[in-house]
Amino acid sequence: MALADALAADIAGGRLAAGDRLPTHRALADALGIAIGTVTRGYAEAERRGLVRGEVGRGTFVGPAPLGAAAAAHGERASGVIDLSLNVPVAGIAPDLAGALRALAKRAGVDDLLRYQPHAGATRHRAAGAAWAARYGVEAAPEQVLVCAGAQHAMLTIFAARAKPGDRVLTEDLTYPGMKALAGLLHLSLEGVAMDAEGLRPDALADALARSGARFLYCMPTIHNPTGTVLTAARRRAISALARAHDLTIIEDDAHRFLVSDAPPPFARLAPERTYHIAGTSKAIAGGLRVAFVTAPRHAVEQVERSIWATTWMAAPLTAEIAATWIEDGTADRVAAAQRREAAARQALARTALGDLVAGTHPQALHLWLELPEPWRGETFARAARERGVAIAPAEVFAAGRGAAPHAVRLGLGGARDRPELERALAVVRDTLAGHGGASPAVL
Ligand SMILES: Cc1ncc(COP(=O)(O)O)c(C=O)c1O
Repeated sequence: MALADALAADIAGGRLAAGDRLPTHRALADALGIAIGTVTRGYAEAERRGLVRGEVGRGTFVGPAPLGAAAAAHGERASGVIDLSLNVPVAGIAPDLAGALRALAKRAGVDDLLRYQPHAGATRHRAAGAAWAARYGVEAAPEQVLVCAGAQHAMLTIFAARAKPGDRVLTEDLTYPGMKALAGLLHLSLEGVAMDAEGLRPDALADALARSGARFLYCMPTIHNPTGTVLTAARRRAISALARAHDLTIIEDDAHRFLVSDAPPPFARLAPERTYHIAGTSKAIAGGLRVAFVTAPRHAVEQVERSIWATTWMAAPLTAEIAATWIEDGTADRVAAAQRREAAARQALARTALGDLVAGTHPQALHLWLELPEPWRGETFARAARERGVAIAPAEVFAAGRGAAPHAVRLGLGGARDRPELERALAVVRDTLAGHGGASPAVL
C-alpha cells in the first residue's frame, strides 16, 4: 500500500509522467530492500487504482491502459480485414479532446456539469444546438431545440413521444438499420416507399398514404443511408404538400447533411409545423460524443421533453458542454470540413476504381452504394469480399419491412485507416466483382 501511495504522490507531484517506465520488480525490490512479491503486490495495487499499467513483456508504465483498447468496439479490426461494413467518420480527423478537457477544467463553475439539468438540456446547450441546426438550414429558436444522447436516442424520443405500438411508419424502401431496430423495440410497423436516383418518389408516397393511412414518415433526404442520394428540391416541396394534405408527421434524419455544401432546404424549413429534425454530431464531430439536437414543432416540445425524461432524464451535460464549446469556437466546423474534404477524395478514388457502378452516390458522401452486375447478389458478394479480407454491408441489411432488397452493397469509406488502405480495399472489391458470383450451398 505504501508503494502505491508513493507512486500516487510522485504522479501528483509531477515527478512521474504518463508513459514513464517504472523499474523492474527485481530492481525496485533490491533498491528498497524488500521482497519481490511485495513489489508485485504494490504495483498491482497501483494498477487497480489506475495509476500504472503492466504491459506483457515490456514492463510497467505510468498511466492507465489506453482507452482505445477498451473503447474500440466498432473500430476493432479482425486481423487482416479492412472493415468497410460500418458508416463511420474517418478516424484521425477528430477534435482535440485533451485540450478541450484542460480548458474546461479551468472554467469557473465547471462542477455545475455534475448537477441535474432540465430534461431538454441546459439553455446554453440548446442555443448551441440551434446554431448547429442552422448549419443544416433549419431556422429554430433555442426553445424548440432539445439535447439528446445521439441521433439514435433522438429517434427513440420522437417515436416514443408521438407513436404508439402498431403504428405504421413509412420510410425509403432502404433505410438506416437503427430505424429497423427501433421499430422492433417500439412495435412499429415499417413500410418501405420506392425511391430512385433522386430519392424518395412522391408518387409512391402518395400511393402508400392512400393505402395505409400512415401518420409518420422517417426519411434521410440529404445523403440517404445507404444509397447516398440527395432528394431534389422539387420532390421536397411535393412531399411537404402531401404531408400537409395527409396530416403526416415527418422525422427528418440529417445525420449526413454536413457533407453537402449546397443541399436543398430541409423539411424542417418547408413544413416546420410537422417536422422533427435531427441534427447529429456523430458523423461531423465524433461518434463517441453522443450528442444530437432535435428541433421539434413548438406544440410538441413538451412531449419530446417528457420522452427524454422517461428515457435518460437528460443527455449527459459534460458531453453536451464539450459539443456546445466546439460548435461555438469553430472546432466543429473545422472537423466537419475536414471530413467533407476527405470524403470527396475517397469518393474520387472509388470512382476511379469502380466506375459507373457507384454513380448514384453523392460525390461527397462518406459511404458508397455499389450496384452489383450480374450474377452477384448482395449477400453472396459481401461474403466473397469478406473472404478476400474486406468487410462490407449487403443491401438486405437495409431493406425496410419485408420489401425485397436490390442486388447491391454499401461500402463505408471512413472505415479504411488511410487512402492507400482504401485503394487496397477497392482493388479487392473490383477483383471480386470480376469473379463468378459465389456458389450456393448444396440444397436438396
Ligand atoms: C442516418 C443515420 N441516423 C442516425 C445514426 C446514428 O447516429 P448517432 O451515432 O448520433 O446515434 C446514423 C449512424 O450511422 C445514421 O447513419
